[in-house]
Amino acid sequence: MKVLSVVGARPQFVKAFPVSRALSGDHEEVLVHTGQHYDEQLSGVFFDQLDVPTPAYNLGVGSGTHADQTAGVLSRLAPVLADEDPDTVLLYGDTNSTLGGALAGAKADVLVAHVEAGLRSGDRRMPEEVNRVLTDHSSDLLFAPTETAVENLRREGLAERTSHTGDVMYDALRWAAEVAREETALRSDLGVDSDEFVLATVHRQRNTDDSDRLASIVDGLASVASPVVFPAHPRTIERLERFGLRERAESALRLVEPVGYLEFVALLDAARAVATDSGGVQKEAFFLDTPCVTMREETEWVETVTSGWNTLVGADADAVAAAIDGASLPDEKPQPYGDGEAATRVVEALERAYTGRQNV
Ligand code: UD1
Ligand code: UDP
Repeated sequence: MKVLSVVGARPQFVKAFPVSRALSGDHEEVLVHTGQHYDEQLSGVFFDQLDVPTPAYNLGVGSGTHADQTAGVLSRLAPVLADEDPDTVLLYGDTNSTLGGALAGAKADVLVAHVEAGLRSGDRRMPEEVNRVLTDHSSDLLFAPTETAVENLRREGLAERTSHTGDVMYDALRWAAEVAREETALRSDLGVDSDEFVLATVHRQRNTDDSDRLASIVDGLASVASPVVFPAHPRTIERLERFGLRERAESALRLVEPVGYLEFVALLDAARAVATDSGGVQKEAFFLDTPCVTMREETEWVETVTSGWNTLVGADADAVAAAIDGASLPDEKPQPYGDGEAATRVVEALERAYTGRQNV
């Protein structure tokens, strides 16, 4: 079976890693990097740290409008699909690279498969939500990480295409947490001790493009009682500068460049709490037993909230600071994200679909 995997943004390198590992040996994988993320700290470092194949293609899509990025992936991937003629196009998550890949795959004679299908935040203003819905409806095989995702897909009439696999990010994290346990250098560089600091990430369009929301988040983080380590996405740095907030953020927070995956997992494991608007980080906090405060009004990872492991606070400064300072963990922990073997189930489902197609 020949699988062409499409990745392009930071979280997709993490999601692809366990699946690449499960594919290797028995199957051929061609990895296509769309080029949506290109900085060393958002892209190269993940290839250095994770056992994923070197991309056979970089489409060089880069930064731009949603339309430019999505259309760029579609038009640049189409000839690659024609040349490579894979059996399956494998997509991850909810970025513009995912949707561009889904559209290119749907227009070619190839099975389109989506890892992390069925996630819904319910907020159609979120570009990722549009990408999720359109990618799921353009795909032939939907790999749902949770029961909630399975149910979302059933409600949209997609039950027949759906397999419940568990979450590949849990597979990745189980490996990374072991390796990262030895990673203490960054913490000592930053001068923070285990359980005595808070980690923060912000990059969501809604939080970064609205100057009032971004200012309020900076104010909230600045009034937290513990030191706050803030590895800031370049988008966030650009907006902090544009809105005149950079100095305030730099004086009140330990503002650093994005860190590598292993360094990030090590920081998250050691932190007293994390404040974030990231999808992946909400789950990683849950896996690592780190209290999570989510600076959004809703989340697609609803199980973390309903079980009391994650608190949604929006962007209000007082609410952000109070939730972080008071963060604690519930006594009971459910296991909604599977057993850490999601990638194997993804590959088995791909194999079944491939065999089914060969026999037609
Ligand atoms: C994208 C995804 C988002 C995902 C995030 C992961 C979409 C719509 N958004 O958001 O779902 O959570 O990746 O991190 O696909 N930039 C750089 N260097 C880079 C990449 C980006 O400086 O290597 C800057 C550019 O100014 C760019 C901005 O960041 O305009 C935003 O990048 P973009 O890829 O459009 O979206 P993200 O915010 O990264
Ligand atoms: N991450 C990282 N370095 C950082 C911040 C995050 O390696 O400085 C990792 C994190 O461990 C997770 C992924 O990036 O695996 C999440 O990506 P992001 O928050 O950019 O996107 P989202 O999950 O919201 O789509």
